[in-house]
Amino acid sequence: MVDEAAVKRAQEHFGKLLKKQMERIDRMNANKDVTDLSKLKKIVIGVCGGDGIGPYICNSARIVMEHLLADRIKSGNIEVRTIDGLTIERRVEVMKAIPDDTLADLRKCHLILKGPTTTPKKGDPWPNIESANVAMRKELDLFANVRPVKVPELGIDWIFFRENTEGSYALGSDGIDVNDDLAIDFCVATTIGTERIIRAGFEHAKRTGLNYVSLVTKANVVKTTDGKFLSIAEKVAKEYPGVKWDDWFIDIMTAKLIDPYRQRDFKVMVLPNLYGDILTDEAAQIQGGVGTAGSANIGSKYSMFEAIHGSAPRMVTEGRAQYADPCSMIKAVALMLDHMGETAKAKKLEMALDICTQFEKRLVMTGRSNGATGDEFAKYIMDTIARPDLEKVWDKYVADAVAARKK
Ligand code: IPM
Ligand code: MG
Repeated sequence: MVDEAAVKRAQEHFGKLLKKQMERIDRMNANKDVTDLSKLKKIVIGVCGGDGIGPYICNSARIVMEHLLADRIKSGNIEVRTIDGLTIERRVEVMKAIPDDTLADLRKCHLILKGPTTTPKKGDPWPNIESANVAMRKELDLFANVRPVKVPELGIDWIFFRENTEGSYALGSDGIDVNDDLAIDFCVATTIGTERIIRAGFEHAKRTGLNYVSLVTKANVVKTTDGKFLSIAEKVAKEYPGVKWDDWFIDIMTAKLIDPYRQRDFKVMVLPNLYGDILTDEAAQIQGGVGTAGSANIGSKYSMFEAIHGSAPRMVTEGRAQYADPCSMIKAVALMLDHMGETAKAKKLEMALDICTQFEKRLVMTGRSNGATGDEFAKYIMDTIARPDLEKVWDKYVADAVAARKK
């Protein structure tokens, strides 16, 4: 039997969603706000700790960031600001994914270093409010979620361009419980939103000389939105004749990433939001775990850098937050440095991270008191950066690891 009243309610709700998305398209089309960091007299970096282990690991990362940018901070070219208010308690108090005052503070920064934030789900002790990450990506229009994953000894050098404002996430908190028997969620793809992420991937492939893009969708089943992703890719690809490209379905791509005969072939991957979320966790695991990967959320006006993992509230309740591994946040700092044009510093930091976490391991993080604290580990990384033979040491470790694998 058709529940006409429920259909009507759902249609009205759907109508409102459509209008909001169309307004969003208008805003995207009208937006001319572009920040050119190289032209700014002063760059403002907001440090937003989040909650759970967030403030702890974010602080360790901040120490490394301030150390590497000390000259520019001293000269007044960079200002580092603390931004409070993104805790789950505060968000629940105002019942908003991001409290208004916090959002206003964030909008006064150019770059944001953000710690993990708790994302409630149905049944949690918290009200089921929207994820702060997802809200920040939408509010600041951070459309490209860029996640590099490297395993030098396996020849893996991947970079994921995950669409960050649309797909299944755009209306993730706006689905319809039509009635007790029927729930519907939505997946969104706009022309402008799809085109800009695909273009970002192709631009990167061209600029870096990687010259190879793999599009990942499930366009054989999710025919409308993923179909649009694919057809726009076909169009954009024509503008990049020097860049080879192919398309994959997400299921087989998850298999190929762990195929030792194929994994090193992939370079730049461009994919819708949810597939990007999932595939980048798999990729991070191949690199050594989600704690080893960072994430750059890039928009034309703002950029935000974060870990790819969650806020591990249990570590806080068990009193061991100071032992949480800050490496994903420190990796996020490397991505921020790279984005600012501090490529040499970013490279050194990445090498130091590899040496400390994968090879030398003079300090080890266990998440408990038998391991190092996050701040101790941050110091270890800074000491490693200062080594005059850093590059040689890194080269040797990688060469040894390659040789060991061949045995
Ligand atoms: C990520 C995270 C977030 C996401 C969560 C915390 C909402 O998993 O950054 O990948 O799903 O995007
Ligand atoms: Mg994720």
